[in-house]
Amino acid sequence: MKTTSNFISMKKNDEKITMMTAYDFPTAKFAEEAGMDMILVGDSLGMVVLGYDSTVFVTMDDMIHHGKAVRRGAKDTFVVVDMPFGTFHGSLDSALTNAVQLMQQTGAQAVKLEGADDVLPVIEKLTFAGIPVIAHLGLLPQSAGVLGGYKVQGKTAAAAEKLIEDAKLCEKAGACAVVLECIPHQLTDTISKALTIPTIGIGAGAQADGQVLVFHDMVKYGTHHIPKFVKEFANVGEPILAGIKQYVEEVKNGTFPTVEHSFTMKEEQLSALYG
Ligand code: KIV
Ligand code: NA
Repeated sequence: MKTTSNFISMKKNDEKITMMTAYDFPTAKFAEEAGMDMILVGDSLGMVVLGYDSTVFVTMDDMIHHGKAVRRGAKDTFVVVDMPFGTFHGSLDSALTNAVQLMQQTGAQAVKLEGADDVLPVIEKLTFAGIPVIAHLGLLPQSAGVLGGYKVQGKTAAAAEKLIEDAKLCEKAGACAVVLECIPHQLTDTISKALTIPTIGIGAGAQADGQVLVFHDMVKYGTHHIPKFVKEFANVGEPILAGIKQYVEEVKNGTFPTVEHSFTMKEEQLSALYG
């Protein structure tokens, strides 16, 4: 399994870091088999798996439940679990308690939290407690209500300057990596060059030290809105729907199951039974 220092070396050696989300056992297994460097149990879980319209509804129990399944599927991959909405702003102590719970219950290697400003002391506190922290800047889905929707961030010089400063402060606070979501690629370039820790981009261009995508988006699994920055690496939704429709049809018209898909009792047992 790779470690946080491996990721820093990868950045130094210009080797890209790969990350995708997973929320269950089979997906985690696929990710590990594909050689993924890191798996994120993202709170995007709320939208792509649980059907909520934002990440606000995701709980600690949800993250633990799915984090455990991912761990079982990918025993040798660096797993990161998102701290859900409202679990790291109350107090430093409650943030630490929640992070410890996520680490101990799921067996993850790191937690991820959105934001800088009042989150910086949290990053520092968790890091001092021995918990690797991945920061998350740019578009912060947990703050979509405050930001006024899911929009590209850091487009003005002033906003970009603040993001560069925030990224440096996250590194200073001890973060082991920074996710950059939905920011202009030029800004990703600047931030990546300014930091020793790796940047992991999503909708942030090619200049990040690594890339992350939401599993359901990259393979088109589900009916949710897929953002513009996602490339369709597979389209599993169509064959899944076609297969399910065929199953319904074949059960209705008696094509399935046949003897081939049934169990047969031996003749002598049948005569013993019915005489
Ligand atoms: O929850 C998630 O999937 C994330 C990624 C978008 C980085 O935080
Ligand atoms: Na997230």
